[in-house]
Amino acid sequence: MTTAVCPGSFDPITLGHLDIVRRARRMFDDVVVGVARNASKSALLSPAERVGLARAALEADPETADVRVEEVPGLLVEFCRDVGAVAVVKGLRGGADFDSELPMALMNRHLTGLETVFVPGDQRYAHVASSLVKDIARHGGPVDDLVPPGVADALRAALAR
Ligand code: PNS
Repeated sequence: MTTAVCPGSFDPITLGHLDIVRRARRMFDDVVVGVARNASKSALLSPAERVGLARAALEADPETADVRVEEVPGLLVEFCRDVGAVAVVKGLRGGADFDSELPMALMNRHLTGLETVFVPGDQRYAHVASSLVKDIARHGGPVDDLVPPGVADALRAALAR
């Protein structure tokens, strides 16, 4: 069985993330979504909230119902070693994503030899980013068609506290 990890902040999970996890599951026998901390971002949702929303969204889709969702407590390479992953799968919306992802992919390979597979996302979601979703929600704009069911409400609740 070949395991891959789809890592990310998932703050919150979007339709773009779901598209990438679905593609990863078509390529690998076993996929684990790793909810991690990005040192250059400050998260709105707690790790438990991000895990819960991702889990609910993936369970609802037959294509990803067997994908596990776990929090990454430290380094991604250590998490990947613990779950026996042979690769990380990351989605690319465009060149800017590649520019920010390449140093991380090279660093992960430097650390343990962990490889990264880059997957182009569906063009329909090329403009969908968690940061933009949060910004729109913060200003009271509509985000329901950018995220899985339940996520927009959770986002509004988090912004209200
Ligand atoms: O969704 P993001 O923010 O683009 O995902 C980036 C993430 C969370 C996968 C990355 O920051 C990460 O791997 N964090 C875990 C800690 C780690 O391993 N840092 C070194 C990365 S080379």
